[in-house]
Amino acid sequence: MPETGTTDDLHPTVFVLFGATGDLARRMVLPAFFQLAQHGLLPEDWRLIGSGRGERTDEWFVDHVRESLETFGPSPDEGPWEEFRDRLRFAGGGFTAEDPGELLDAVTTARKELGEDVQLVHYLSLPPKAFTGYTRALGAHGLAEGARVVYEKPFGASPEGFRELDDLVHSVMDEGQVFRIDHFLGKEGTQDLHVARFANGLFEHIWSREHVAQVQIDVPEDLDVADRADFYDATGATLDMLVTHLFQVAAEVAMEPPVSFSADDILHARESVLSHFRPLAPEDVVLGQYEGYRDLDDVPDDSQTDTFVAARLYIDSGRWRGVPFLLRTGKRMADKQQRVSLVLHRPKGPVHDVPANGNVISLSLAGAGALDVDIMAKRPGPDLAMAPARVSLDLSQVPGGEPLAPYVSLIHDVLVGDRSLFTTSKGLAETWRALQPVLDHRPEVHPYTPGSWGPAAANALTGEHGWLLGQTED
Ligand code: BG6
Repeated sequence: MPETGTTDDLHPTVFVLFGATGDLARRMVLPAFFQLAQHGLLPEDWRLIGSGRGERTDEWFVDHVRESLETFGPSPDEGPWEEFRDRLRFAGGGFTAEDPGELLDAVTTARKELGEDVQLVHYLSLPPKAFTGYTRALGAHGLAEGARVVYEKPFGASPEGFRELDDLVHSVMDEGQVFRIDHFLGKEGTQDLHVARFANGLFEHIWSREHVAQVQIDVPEDLDVADRADFYDATGATLDMLVTHLFQVAAEVAMEPPVSFSADDILHARESVLSHFRPLAPEDVVLGQYEGYRDLDDVPDDSQTDTFVAARLYIDSGRWRGVPFLLRTGKRMADKQQRVSLVLHRPKGPVHDVPANGNVISLSLAGAGALDVDIMAKRPGPDLAMAPARVSLDLSQVPGGEPLAPYVSLIHDVLVGDRSLFTTSKGLAETWRALQPVLDHRPEVHPYTPGSWGPAAANALTGEHGWLLGQTED
């Protein structure tokens, strides 16, 4: 297992970016890398080798990176572009088990340039179906040895696909070398779940079934999928978001206190609770598809793909037994939000009319994140009237804070060898186990109006509280 360090003790690093000319690299990985440079979070010396199929020069790659930054930000003119640019290389000719293209030579040269004690990091910014071939090739050419290897999500698109990939990966490297990205774990708001809960007496003792009536993890999105309909139609909301991001965030909320705040202990605490996820009952899952989805190019006229999923998950740990975790997400919905809400039991005592949104602790995972507490307050005035009111902490305002985008934060964790915010093989096996009944008995797909809160059938999952962010009326 690699040791966890800090930016100060980073080794010189050779970073190989597979899929360097692809969309994900342009939008996310290259901008994140440049932001790391801007924040001074890269090792003192490093090389980034883009790997791709074409025969390209280093100069071509430098222009490509510059263009990506100009399109998706941050602008290279903000600096430090010159020293960044000088460390970019390109290795063309593809990379397969049979033929390493130019990569072996490029890695050898970069290693020589950086001296002894170089850390090698491979980033597979590739479509999931390419993971197998590239993993084999890493093994075949001895490039996995001592390296850290980053896999994008989804790590397997079915329980069988996951197991096959997992076995292959473990035949080439140890689990401790693997960094499986789930960028929701890298969000500032998600990371604040640890701190809000474990560093505040105000919250820790109410974090259980005695005080929490239900948890809502709600990620409505207003965007559609027109620009990636091909991928999306083969995936759907359940695989794209539920078994990945929403399950991982549920585990973050539900975990037992880690023994310490070390990376290993946090990882262990989150992963352990996944084994308590009760397999989802198909009647506790509502699927939806927005009207007009089938008119998109690349979507078949009879597609049954879910663009919406809502689920009632139970976590059978002593702490959470009987508390529903309500998970919801969908495309073309009424709003774009990312919110985790703990709805507290109404207080026993003289006040009986506390509304569902009257006693809620919630975190927004969007952007730099926010922590909100919804409380009942006296409405100022002559009468003893009450109203729900919100106390908000915008996390970007925490003194000295410099919020990092999830990819920036996670790539930094890879560089320092901190696996606390990555998924593990055992944990992912548990998420597939929990989803299995829904794969075996897929619920019907309800149509919903674009711009709505999804099918009204999802309302019944929440009981009397309703979906706090909004719901479609029956
Ligand atoms: C991705 C999903 O993993 O996360 C997308 O594939 C989804 O469908 C996206 O829109 C949400 O990410 P973000 O950056 O808005 O938190």
